[in-house]
Amino acid sequence: MMSKPRVYVTRDLPGDGLDAARDVCDVHVWPGDLPPPRETLLVEVAEVQGLIPLLNDRIDETVMDAAPHLKVISNYAVGYDNIDVAAATARGIPVGNTPGVLTETTAELAFALLLAAARRLPEGERLVRAGGWETFKPALLLGRDLYGATLGIVGLGRIGQAVARRAAGFSMRVLYHRGDANAAHQLGAESASLDDLLRQSDFISLHVPLTPQTKHLIGARELALMKPTAILVNTARGGVVDPAALYAALRDGVINAAALDVTEPEPIPMDDPLLTLDNCLIVPHIGSASVATRERMVHIAVDNLLAGLRDERLPHCVNPEVYE
Ligand code: DGY
Repeated sequence: MMSKPRVYVTRDLPGDGLDAARDVCDVHVWPGDLPPPRETLLVEVAEVQGLIPLLNDRIDETVMDAAPHLKVISNYAVGYDNIDVAAATARGIPVGNTPGVLTETTAELAFALLLAAARRLPEGERLVRAGGWETFKPALLLGRDLYGATLGIVGLGRIGQAVARRAAGFSMRVLYHRGDANAAHQLGAESASLDDLLRQSDFISLHVPLTPQTKHLIGARELALMKPTAILVNTARGGVVDPAALYAALRDGVINAAALDVTEPEPIPMDDPLLTLDNCLIVPHIGSASVATRERMVHIAVDNLLAGLRDERLPHCVNPEVYE
């Protein structure tokens, strides 16, 4: 009897989606909440044919070299900057991701951050808990209206488009830089160079993947182009924004506020100066964190995994050139 293929999953995943893998594979799950230590990962992958990592597991050449039987890497995320895709392709290993299912959930979080920063919700909440709500004050915690404001979307892909749809409901004008021109046309979004978008937008929401080209795409120069009233939202990857430049811009009033679901590095160190600022709202990478979406992501990751183990094309493959 043929033995079942061995699979390593770097964290326990929500819902029952892994059961489909357990039916046909010998599934080993790292039991901790934190990523498995590097040495553990290197030992665990030695016998595996399939790997489901998370976005905070670095899957590079060293891991691949330690996994001579590896047939598929199925990332539990839509982003895959944690994986050396070129190294996987060179070894003929398909890499899967989980697009689509988290689009609306992540767009909702981007909008929640936009609203929370615009209306200064964290400051208000802190004030109430600290006993600072004395009475109604005409000038207390004045924020910014979304209504009639301009939203600049950097990266009008799936999630960027979902954010643009929400913006229409708030009667916002939408500019975009990089993305699908046909979708933009349907959404009434106007194309702009990055500099023009930064100059004209009241709110800027980032939706580009982290690549060598987008690393620190928003730095001191870009922040200086923004309006002093601008609010920056990042639900993409922390590395898209230069954190030192962002701190200086928020501290010095170069821009008004930022709301971040992602930071560089993650988790943000407790002594990071961004944490000292009232005008910087930070949540711990929860863009896709709804019950339904995180469970659906497991199903997609398992579909990719099982296809790879059967030598079939992954339903969601980020390096389709492995099939050429
Ligand atoms: C992703 O999928 O890339 C998100 O950052 C987490 O779900």
